[in-house]
Amino acid sequence: MSSYLPIVTLDGPAGVGKTTLARRVAQSLGISYLDTGAMFRCLALKLGPGAEYLPEAELKERCSQWTFNLAGQGAHTALLCNNVPVRGEVRTEEVGMLAARIATVPVVRDILCAIQRELGTRSPLVAEGRDMGTVVFPMAHYKFFLDAAPEVRALRRLHDLENQGQNADLTTLTEQIRKRDALDRNRAIAPLRPAPDALVVDTGSLDIEGVLGVILHHIQVHGGIV
Ligand code: DC
Repeated sequence: MSSYLPIVTLDGPAGVGKTTLARRVAQSLGISYLDTGAMFRCLALKLGPGAEYLPEAELKERCSQWTFNLAGQGAHTALLCNNVPVRGEVRTEEVGMLAARIATVPVVRDILCAIQRELGTRSPLVAEGRDMGTVVFPMAHYKFFLDAAPEVRALRRLHDLENQGQNADLTTLTEQIRKRDALDRNRAIAPLRPAPDALVVDTGSLDIEGVLGVILHHIQVHGGIV
């Protein structure tokens, strides 16, 4: 039996729209969402480049200086690090790459996994990341794995950046996504892959509303969140 409360897991590669969907699903269900990528990103930023090469004891000591908590619910869920909200500065692709590097280190994963499980005992969650359904919450009530080809994800990111008035180049974005996929899928511990019991959703031909509809319908016909 699971010791945590009802959990919906959303796993998938970089740029597939997990954070937006986690927020929307959490809002629809009236529960909080946990952006575990933001936890890795936040630690990566605090520890700085090259932290993956630190001796294990030192890394453990430095990681343990940071606490994570959730406040609020639905679209208003906030992730707090040492009681300060984690902000947009962690969202750059550079920090994403730093996060993917420290995410290969067992001691870092162990520390964050323990915190994530602890948060899952405090409130029902939509938990999004890479290993939510496979490692952190293997007994989750609902598991989804979102996927799309690197070119599709890069094109979506290009449109997002253009809408924010930023310049970007499709070839560079596709390359960045492929690099991060390689790190996330090929690492020795908790590699990115669907849990055997996850519903795999190919988001290639769906927009956010379409994917949201698939997820909410699946949860509803299987009894909802109780
Ligand atoms: O989802 P994201 O792009 O914010 O995640 C940033 C990096 O953090 C990702 O490339 C790998 C790592 N990560 C992880 O290893 N496990 C998770 N559950 C979430 C993120």
